[in-house]
Amino acid sequence: MIRHFTTKRDLIGGFANAMNLISPEVENHHEKVAYLAYRLAEALDMDEQQRSLAFAGGLLHDIGGILKRGDVSLLDLEMSAGQVASAGAALLKTFPSASPFAQVVQESQTPWHRLKKLHANLKAPQRIGQVIHLADAVTLLLDATAPVLNQVGQIRQAIRCGGETEFSPEVLSAFEKLCARESVWMDVMYRPQLFLELIADNRWLTLDETVRLTEFMSKIIDFRSPFTAMHSAGVAATAAALAELTGMSGDECKMMRIAGYVHDIGKLKIPNEILEKPGKLTDAEFNVMKEHVYYTWILLKDVKGFEQIAPWAAFHHEKLNGAGYPFHLPESELSLGSRIMTVADVFSAITEDRPYRQGMDREQVIAVLCADARQGALSESLVRLLVDHYDAINARRDAESRAASKKYRESLANHP
Ligand SMILES: [Fe+2]
Ligand SMILES: [Fe+2]
Repeated sequence: MIRHFTTKRDLIGGFANAMNLISPEVENHHEKVAYLAYRLAEALDMDEQQRSLAFAGGLLHDIGGILKRGDVSLLDLEMSAGQVASAGAALLKTFPSASPFAQVVQESQTPWHRLKKLHANLKAPQRIGQVIHLADAVTLLLDATAPVLNQVGQIRQAIRCGGETEFSPEVLSAFEKLCARESVWMDVMYRPQLFLELIADNRWLTLDETVRLTEFMSKIIDFRSPFTAMHSAGVAATAAALAELTGMSGDECKMMRIAGYVHDIGKLKIPNEILEKPGKLTDAEFNVMKEHVYYTWILLKDVKGFEQIAPWAAFHHEKLNGAGYPFHLPESELSLGSRIMTVADVFSAITEDRPYRQGMDREQVIAVLCADARQGALSESLVRLLVDHYDAINARRDAESRAASKKYRESLANHP
């Protein structure tokens, strides 16, 4: 087992970059909230564990927004903050390792006047929720086009106005302390990437931990639309199965699984109308769709530990005959991992049921894959391998797809 695969900072940085693709309007919003929440927790003398929870909660507080249909604008997030918070908490609860954040995210949009009725004594999750609530409000008031220190007075005034009902007295007093520190404001506005330096334990993650974290990320990619709610899970299962059959090592098979989980991460950039269009895309829409693999590449190529995974994941629409997109790489530059990913993606896509069409049956799937291999688009030997082990591979794909669908339904169950 690889003990030193990637670092926490690398993976969280990649995750934040991915979140920024969802809407350019909310760019760096999560980083700013995470940074401010940490600084507020610090001003409240919270211990390191609670500061980390404030940080993580700040980064994840809007995650429920991805379960909303359509594009997520800043205004949407503001208007339906309560719903976004409970949807986010529901999503986090479906992952055991993310569940400590669920309660914090749940509480992050509850105003003080409601919170104090619900809880006679605030415990850590509510206090941290208040910290995130205030960090979020402050961040939404920032104007990126004006010098930041000239805004502090107005923001302070606005927070004070809503203060009594929105925020607890303790979080308001922590905010007063921050108002006096110019550097904090300049950090937030001008160096959003600085938030990564607040990760106190920038420890190495093992390969297994990375598998678990990228599985969680795959849900954020897939759960934006019921059309794709299980796609990445199916691709990951198929890719790992094919990797085993080609004799890749145990660690490489896990890396193929990771590549499957994140292969469509660039889809976060693609508007839902295109992702969810039931029929054929127009040329103009397809041009937009093509961007997704380019962004997968941009997001992954510099992540430590992902040196092999990035090309495996990002070249899944490249074809051996050069007819794919967007890089049109020659055959010699498409490694076994990239070839496996392409076959796994086509296989999963045509086998899956979509709300507007049934998945293809065994005969149809084999006919499509063999035709692609004959045309020189897909690797002939990999298609043969898949056909020879069709039932076993399809059973694994189906089982993991079903498990992902179940998680999707669980997440939606609490989603208003
Ligand atoms: Fe794709
Ligand atoms: Fe895909």
